[in-house]
Amino acid sequence: MADIILIRHASGAPGLRLFGLGPNLLPRKGLSQLRDLLDKHTFWAQKRSYKELRQALAGSTIVISLWKHNKIIGFGRATSDGIFRAVLWDIVVSEDSQGQGLGSKVVKALLSSSQIKNVERIYLMTTKSSNFYEQLGFEKCISQSLLKKK
Ligand SMILES: CC(C)(COP(=O)(O)OP(=O)(O)OC[C@H]1O[C@@H](n2cnc3c(N)ncnc32)[C@H](O)[C@@H]1OP(=O)(O)O)[C@@H](O)C(=O)NCCC(=O)NCCS
Repeated sequence: MADIILIRHASGAPGLRLFGLGPNLLPRKGLSQLRDLLDKHTFWAQKRSYKELRQALAGSTIVISLWKHNKIIGFGRATSDGIFRAVLWDIVVSEDSQGQGLGSKVVKALLSSSQIKNVERIYLMTTKSSNFYEQLGFEKCISQSLLKKK
């Protein structure tokens, strides 16, 4: 774990988004690496174009990335109005690095960020990982329904 670097990006992640910056603000083809990470280790965020990824990053209040030997191995982002609501998105750890506490590290870094730590409600949507989030202080909403636009 000592060789893992966690980056708390500035809002909108301009360095990662525009220059592909990684640890120590060095260019590491970060956007291309992020695209590979999402393609290989998620089922909902595959085949996103660079343009789409840039837009998603630009619109994110908080962006966290995890690096090992200049390789991006974890990621997570959140959007928020800074006071009432926040939503976590695209939490992922590469398969060969899972089970070592890194996913928890990403979620904790998002939750402890100054932009959302005092927000009234923090939500996320998950298909297969409820147990993972329950360990981190989330609970299932039984009084509310999740609706999506048809
Ligand atoms: C979900 C994910 C981010 C977890 O990352 P991770 O680094 O493996 O998680 P951690 O090592 O911090 O796990 C913390 C705990 O949650 C448990 N856990 C991890 N993934 C889990 C899952 N999918 N379901 C249930 N429990 C899970 C671990 O066993 C661990 O428990 P322990 O402390 O008792 O050993 C990772 O498995 C992943 O990227 N999966 C593919 C993408 C994905 O589905 N992301 C979630 C989108 S909502």
